[in-house]
Amino acid sequence: MISRETIDKIFETARIEEVIGDFVTLKKSGGNFKGLSPFSNEKTPSFMVSPAKQIFKDFSSGKGGNVVSFLMEHEHYTYPEALRFLAKKYNIEIEETGQSDEEKELRSERESLFLVNDFANRFFQESLWKTEEGKSIGLSYFHERRMTDEIIRTFQLGYCPESGTALTDAALKESYQLEFLEKTGLTKVDGPRKRDRFWGRVIFPILSHTGRVLGFGGRVLKKDAKTAKYLNSPESEIYHKSKTLYGLFQAKAHLSKEDECLLVEGYTDVISLYQAGVKNAVASSGTSLTTDQINLIKRYTQNITILYDGDSAGIKASLRGIDMILEEGLNVQVLLFPDGEDPDSYAHKVSSAELRDYIHEEKQDFLRFKASLLLKEAGDNPLEKSRAAREIVQSIALIPDALQRDAYVKECARVLEVDEKVLFSELAQIRKSKQKQERKRPASEEPTRMEVVQADQADLEAPSGTYKQEEALCWLLLNYGQKICSFEVEGEEVEESVAEHIITELVTDHLKFDNTAFQKILEEYTRIFDEEERVLSSEDLLRNEDNELLGTVVDLVSEKYELHNWQSRKIFLPEKDAFIPQYTRQSVLRFKEKKISLLITDVQQKFHKEESESRENQLQMLTRLTQLRIKINKELGRVV
Ligand code: CTP
Ligand code: MN
Repeated sequence: MISRETIDKIFETARIEEVIGDFVTLKKSGGNFKGLSPFSNEKTPSFMVSPAKQIFKDFSSGKGGNVVSFLMEHEHYTYPEALRFLAKKYNIEIEETGQSDEEKELRSERESLFLVNDFANRFFQESLWKTEEGKSIGLSYFHERRMTDEIIRTFQLGYCPESGTALTDAALKESYQLEFLEKTGLTKVDGPRKRDRFWGRVIFPILSHTGRVLGFGGRVLKKDAKTAKYLNSPESEIYHKSKTLYGLFQAKAHLSKEDECLLVEGYTDVISLYQAGVKNAVASSGTSLTTDQINLIKRYTQNITILYDGDSAGIKASLRGIDMILEEGLNVQVLLFPDGEDPDSYAHKVSSAELRDYIHEEKQDFLRFKASLLLKEAGDNPLEKSRAAREIVQSIALIPDALQRDAYVKECARVLEVDEKVLFSELAQIRKSKQKQERKRPASEEPTRMEVVQADQADLEAPSGTYKQEEALCWLLLNYGQKICSFEVEGEEVEESVAEHIITELVTDHLKFDNTAFQKILEEYTRIFDEEERVLSSEDLLRNEDNELLGTVVDLVSEKYELHNWQSRKIFLPEKDAFIPQYTRQSVLRFKEKKISLLITDVQQKFHKEESESRENQLQMLTRLTQLRIKINKELGRVV
């Protein structure tokens, strides 16, 4: 784990406007910076960066956060990945805590492998662009395949000289250790003999989604070569073929923007599509698609389109891919290229516009794809048709979401003109035997997608309750929490901070916020107040790891909200500070008043429904609550 001190140092050093400025063109606008939203395709800028608060807010997508959460959103880094990226940019040494010696060793071994790969990547590119051999053999090969210089650089393509030891010699001369050259597979060691694995090949570096060099693919140039067409780096501590997607580094921004991932087979397919302007493609590179690869895509989009050859191997691979993708809960479409063509050859055969049209028009959802495939064999025979339908239901049964399953079964019945009921009972049978198998495995704790959706829905519908009051209190905590004011509580003057006042008032009455993000804010303030006897500042909270919380905090500290807040209360900005104690007291009372009103309604409803026994209690409770409400309203009347 990265130590707390390092995290603090990173936050203190990193400038959000500089970091975001590397990804988005920002223009100064007052004290802030403005730019076009990197999360949507907008024409007028509504993306704001505040250097003073070190936050960003994107009004077109609603996203907001700090420098780390920007990297997590935009680059799809994990929290530690984002921290490491910033540490590197600002030359901050990372201090790790709780690492065993073994972990330290492994980490430093991984780093060494990355360093060697990085050196090799630079060496291969230099050989391609700067040596006579590279230019006449490697570069001319790429040109022959109609790749532009720009695309060759974008994909960092290179060349490994024919001599057989050029890379190894150069690396050893630069003091890279043979051990790591061997472990990355760059050098093959056979007794005293050392040889470059990729000699005489053009090089396709395989990058991680953050752009680090994991390994390489090398292609022979001669058509009659007796060795394999492509050679790849062997599995190593840093390269796991089944967990890697070629082209992801270059494609990732486009996967999110297009909200679709095109899945192709080879290196050159990715590159040629990209050159033709279709930039959201990645390749599984010679392995058949794996669950890890699908989950990698899931970070960017829920929609995958398989683009394979139209030959029988391509069709078989597509069918397998469909089932795996459905099982992971993603949407899948299929597009086959005419027999004998792959995306690379087709992209060079037609214009960019034609290519785009072809992809757009020819892709089919998995159901139609499977149906047309099976019907080709079945013809108009009703028996064959229902067999085809049942086969499609096999795929549908893999979809985790029940509503989606139902919709597809209905669609399937319609397309194949088969009785819906038959298909539903088929589905039920398959699910049943699947569940039996699953019960043998330990149940996973994760909520299903449906449950998550329902929970989201509940959150959306909540604002009727105490949302407004909770929002006001959190706004006060974040913007004025540390301000010392004098409050009048039941006839007495109390000097305390805004935060202390809010916390004490709510804690004494055991009150909680309904909205999860607001409750988290309140909890953080209460925790720090109890443990450290100080009032948290909004800057502290802006370093939080929880992106949902961050989003809410950013909303509450951004100026737009503030302006709106005061204007709607008809308070002029110069007066606002003087108004804070009054507004705090008012907000506390309003929140309590609303809570009590809701409680009263609740008790009243029960009172009408239920039988005697508890009626006595309920009546007493109602009286108490009503009295409390009157008292609060009286004070509110005075405060307002
Ligand atoms: N592949 C591999 N080893 C091989 C053949 C193929 O690793 N011996 C992988 C490569 O990642 C390749 C992909 O499988 O890109 C698809 O293979 P193929 O269709 O044969 O190659 P193309 O991408 O069409 O390559 P090219 O156009 O250069 O012939
Ligand atoms: Mn090809």
